[in-house]
Amino acid sequence: MTEDGDDAVVRRDRFSGGPARGFISSLAGDERIFAADLAVDRAHVVMLAEQGLVDDGDAAAILAALDEVAAAGHDALPDGEDVHEAIETAVVDRVGPAGGRMHTARSRNDEVAACLRIRLRDDLLDAADAALALREALTETARANVQTTMPGYTHLQPAQPTTLAHHHLSYESALRRDVARLRDAYDRTNRSPLGAAAFAGTPFDVDRERTAALLGFDGVVENATDAAAARDFLVEAAAALAALALTCSGLAEDLVGFASRGYVELDDDYASTSSIMPQKKNPDTLELVRAVAGDAVGALTGVATTLKGLPRAYNRDLQRADPHVWDAVDAVRGATGACAGAVSTASWDEAALADDAGDGFSTATGVADALALAGVPFRTAHEVVARAGTADAEALDEAARAVLGESLFARVDRAVVERALDPAESVRARDSHGGPAPEAVRGALDRADTALAADREAVADRRDRGDRAAAELAEVVDGYV
Ligand code: ARG
Repeated sequence: MTEDGDDAVVRRDRFSGGPARGFISSLAGDERIFAADLAVDRAHVVMLAEQGLVDDGDAAAILAALDEVAAAGHDALPDGEDVHEAIETAVVDRVGPAGGRMHTARSRNDEVAACLRIRLRDDLLDAADAALALREALTETARANVQTTMPGYTHLQPAQPTTLAHHHLSYESALRRDVARLRDAYDRTNRSPLGAAAFAGTPFDVDRERTAALLGFDGVVENATDAAAARDFLVEAAAALAALALTCSGLAEDLVGFASRGYVELDDDYASTSSIMPQKKNPDTLELVRAVAGDAVGALTGVATTLKGLPRAYNRDLQRADPHVWDAVDAVRGATGACAGAVSTASWDEAALADDAGDGFSTATGVADALALAGVPFRTAHEVVARAGTADAEALDEAARAVLGESLFARVDRAVVERALDPAESVRARDSHGGPAPEAVRGALDRADTALAADREAVADRRDRGDRAAAELAEVVDGYV
């Protein structure tokens, strides 16, 4: 063994060089965390130098080599089991054995966990931004359609008249929770595992808070075994992404249905034609949005199944946990962005929506409500309207005579009944908090704007903190090289 530990390199090469090398290597997929690993290496080396664990000359040489490795790019890395090993090899190739000091007081276990958290936090913010864009698109369409009466459905049957604004704001509300879940996932992801080493800490006098701060983490994952082993942040991210994808899938399905009924025409950018049927304009983009929910739920299942029953502390199974989440992040972010584009460019046929708003006697509940407001027990009012079975004042009167033993108009003004039978009036009457009446929806729109601005700020603030940490790390590194 040479003084600087060449033997360790030789020993490392003794393993994983066989036919399974390609199987166990994650190097190709690790491109996703290439930049994160360089940041982790830099912060770690700076901390080691500040703590006097490597001298400034070695730190400077390693940091300069890392700059070269960064400039050459992931594709230029030497072979390795993973990006961590390959970057270390590239550094040692440039610096000589002293490059091996980079791996003092750490393990690939805390290293990879740090890389995943750094990459994922950015991905989560990107997903949140896509969801915010969709919220904005929905809110804008809603604002322009507060009075656009349309059929509302349960069981895909006409149920009660509503408005396009109220429909869209229902998804905006769900997306607010989806963004809150992404923000929560971010906050628990953004903790540094560095300094945990393999799982059992290190005898070196490391400053875990310093590496955490240099990398823009909000703090450390304290317990070293937890820090190395925990991947629940991946589960949480996958779950938040799946919830977002499920929201988008429902919206996409509604829009596909509305397009089929001629209520909405998608912009050409979000539609496809048929290779054989020249007249076709199909909502393919939204169908793919709908399908991505399957990818996301599959990813959640994949990551959870990979983690189930894993013993402490580190097991190589973990290498196959994060790819599920990367797939989900890319698919869900793309789907959410496409959905936002489709929503913001769609043209609605307001007349067709209004024409059909009363279809299937969808004003029936409003008539029963009017009777109940006049003092008839709701169940009896329900019976009267059910017996009439049609949006016709005379038929309702006949039913009232049969059920109540007197004319409907002895109980309610004819004008009240006529209003209840009008879809737009039916909507106006439902002005309860959260209801579709234009007045209620205007209040909801104001709150949607306020919530959107607050979330935008929260996301931008997290992004800024990350950017500031990156700039500070670059400056500190510049002080060495
Ligand atoms: N590529 C590995 C992963 O993603 C890095 C950690 C390897 N650690 C180990 N003890 N074999 O998990």
